[in-house]
Amino acid sequence: MNLADERRNYLRGELHRADLRPDPIAQFNLWLDEANRAGVLEPTALSLATVGRDGRPRVRTVLLKGLTDAGFVFFTNFDSRKGRHLHENPQASLLFPWLALERQVIVTGPVEPVGDEESRAYFRSRPRESRLAAWVSNQSQVVASRADLDAGLGVVRARYGDTGEIPLPPFWGGYRVRPETIEFWQGRANRMHDRFEYTRQPDGSWTLERLSP
Ligand SMILES: Cc1cc2nc3c(=O)[nH]c(=O)nc-3n(C[C@H](O)[C@H](O)[C@H](O)COP(=O)(O)O)c2cc1C
Repeated sequence: MNLADERRNYLRGELHRADLRPDPIAQFNLWLDEANRAGVLEPTALSLATVGRDGRPRVRTVLLKGLTDAGFVFFTNFDSRKGRHLHENPQASLLFPWLALERQVIVTGPVEPVGDEESRAYFRSRPRESRLAAWVSNQSQVVASRADLDAGLGVVRARYGDTGEIPLPPFWGGYRVRPETIEFWQGRANRMHDRFEYTRQPDGSWTLERLSP
C-alpha cells in the first residue's frame, strides 16, 4: 500500500446550516440514526481521548450507552487507565468515526461519574457473562496469562453461582461527558469539507458556527 497515493474524494453528502437542528443533541441523534440505518459497524463506538496529570493524551474506543441533554454516557472500570486520567483531569473529547457516511462528530466537555443508581441500572441490563467479566478484570493492569484471567472468571462464577445476583462492582460504572462543543463534519470534494460547531453558552443555549475545513 502506497500511503502517499491513498486518496479518496468524499462525495456522499453536503452539510448546510439550514440542515442543522438548533439543538445539537437532536442533530446527533439524527446522524446516529442514519449511521445505524446505513449499516455502519458499531455506530455507537466512539474514540475517547483523555489526558492525565502528566499531560500525555491517550485514546481508546468505548460504546455510547446513554445520551440525554445532560450528556454522553459510557461505562468502564474506574481504576483503568482512562479512569485514572478522568480522576486526575475530568475532561474528555469523543470522536464518532462514521466513515461509511464520510462523517465524523467530535464532542468536548467536562466529565463526571453518573452515580451508583444509573450504573447499577445499566449493569443489571448487561448479559450475565459480561457482569462476571467486570468483576474479573483489573482493567489496564498487567495480567500474567490468559489462564490467570480464565481462572479469575472461574472464581467469580463460583462465588455467584449460575443464578445468584451479581452486584455492581464498586470500581465499575458510568461517566457522563457534558458537551461544551459538538462538531459535525461532512466530507466534501477536494478537501473542501463542511464543518459546523455548536458551542454551549452560559445560559444553556447553543451557538452554531461554520469552521474552515
Ligand atoms: C468496539 C470496542 C468497544 C469497546 N467498548 C468499551 C466500553 O464500552 N468500555 C470499556 O471500558 N472499554 C471498551 N473497549 C475497550 C477499550 O477500548 C480499552 O481497551 C479499555 O477500556 C482499556 O482502556 P484504558 O486502558 O485506556 O483505560 C472497547 C473496545 C472496542 C474496540
